[in-house]
Amino acid sequence: MAGNTDELLCEDLPTNPRADMGTVLVAGATGYIGGRLVPELIARGYKVRIMVRAESPVHAERWPEAEMVVADALVKDEVDTALEGIDTAYYLIHSMLIGLHKFEDADTLAARNFRMAAEECNVQRIIYLGGLGDAQTTLSTHLASRAMVAEEFSQGTVPTTILRAAIIIGSGSASYEMINHLVRRIPVFPVPSWAKTKCQPIGLRDVIKSLVGVMELPETAGRTFDIGGTDILTYEDMLKLHSEVLGKKKIFMPSPVSSISFYSYITSLLTPVPAAITWCLMESVTHDVICHEDDIIDLIPFRRISCKEALVLALSREDQDSVATRWSDSYPPDYELAIKLSEIEGPPTYTSSYSLITDKTSEKLFKSITHIGGRNGWFHSTFLWRIRGAIDRLLRGVGTTRGRRSASRLRVNDVVDFWRVEEIRQNEQLLLRAEMKVPGYAWLEFRVDTVSGDKSRLSVNAYYKTKGFWGRTYWYIFLPFHHFIFDNLIKQIERSSR
Ligand SMILES: NC(=O)c1ccc[n+]([C@@H]2O[C@H](COP(=O)([O-])OP(=O)(O)OC[C@H]3O[C@@H](n4cnc5c(N)ncnc54)[C@H](OP(=O)(O)O)[C@@H]3O)[C@@H](O)[C@H]2O)c1
Repeated sequence: MAGNTDELLCEDLPTNPRADMGTVLVAGATGYIGGRLVPELIARGYKVRIMVRAESPVHAERWPEAEMVVADALVKDEVDTALEGIDTAYYLIHSMLIGLHKFEDADTLAARNFRMAAEECNVQRIIYLGGLGDAQTTLSTHLASRAMVAEEFSQGTVPTTILRAAIIIGSGSASYEMINHLVRRIPVFPVPSWAKTKCQPIGLRDVIKSLVGVMELPETAGRTFDIGGTDILTYEDMLKLHSEVLGKKKIFMPSPVSSISFYSYITSLLTPVPAAITWCLMESVTHDVICHEDDIIDLIPFRRISCKEALVLALSREDQDSVATRWSDSYPPDYELAIKLSEIEGPPTYTSSYSLITDKTSEKLFKSITHIGGRNGWFHSTFLWRIRGAIDRLLRGVGTTRGRRSASRLRVNDVVDFWRVEEIRQNEQLLLRAEMKVPGYAWLEFRVDTVSGDKSRLSVNAYYKTKGFWGRTYWYIFLPFHHFIFDNLIKQIERSSR
């Protein structure tokens, strides 16, 4: 199901793969950047170990050549195991998504554990991608935590290379999706005072090349480099450039309102990116984030792309439905929600099942099922799913606008609107776990079973686990809708399975 969407980006890198290099660890391999780095390292012949928090068959499916270690950076013993026998370790972890007031402590602890374990395991180098931002000014919580991680590694004895980047423009990046959706949806842009702040966006491919390039250049050990694209733009310029690339005319007018909370909330309502992320990213818009030096350009000379080129490349990846990683890949709105159906104590409190018998093949039925959600809609009553999503958004939940990474392919952990793929068994089962705000835990399962030689049973099962009064009330309020929605849903899936 994964489908190979990994396009190699480092082919014109002037550095050469290092034959002397031992195993390379990628911590944060499930993330947006880590997921793009791993295939590059494998393609260049490195022995790669990926560090993940949860074991999943999808990792082995995506990167069969990589060794996998399960470790939480907050647990020192687990990090020790992950770093044993490692030559160079990429640190691409951040905890931003666990909540505004919790992530700083988690980031500090994770970085400290990693630094100490790297020292004990005699790791030769750490490579860390952090954020740009002038340490002399008051940084946002997010940027301050990135700087703190850099500081932690700098104080250790393992030579560390620190790369500092501002906005990364690439298909699937949160910043890109925020701008893209705003430009597609809003005809008139209010321009608050902070829209004149400068930033230096960088194309995703240039970030990946820099990450690989510094590893292949031993003299970059122990140094910090600012990395950026060829343009310094204001946020207003970026919106204008994006509008031009999409061929859309927009009106820009000064706005007396400059509250960042207000704009980040509106952005979360109008784009797939939830409030927790829009806030973290926008909190720093009042500070210029530009490179203060460009030493890396002489050390690793490759052609840096402009913001416009990065936008065009990102848009074309979307058009080709070949987005390899997305910000939503590692979005845990609340870790409790990650409880799997197979892990709950006892049976679900409520189950509701609908099925039909058809002579369509399991392959055809399953293909239809895997197209569910996102831009494709929900086969029937899509507007009701959208209303539920809008309510969730108002409650600061994830809503349905997160869409999907790919319109045609699904893999374990992919987001499907306000669901996340928990399990896929080809032509048999798709199990989705609810990530919207519900007073309990909910799953939606699609199954295809062969009932006799040429007949299949297509079914949809809703499972719900709750204890409290409100949880039970919620189930009974939605029960009448279940029949209407699910019955029509499976009929429509069956019809569209051609
Ligand atoms: N993306 C950008 O636009 C951007 C821009 C500038 C700089 N950067 C920097 O680049 C780095 C990577 O960013 P990203 O966008 O790839 O992040 P991301 O998509 O949010 O991924 C974060 C990664 O960290 C892992 N992680 C979080 N807490 C962990 C823990 N306790 N133990 C082990 N792993 C943990 C996550 O694993 P799970 O899947 O298990 O959650 C995930 O793999 C960050 O330092 C970021 O500041 C990114």
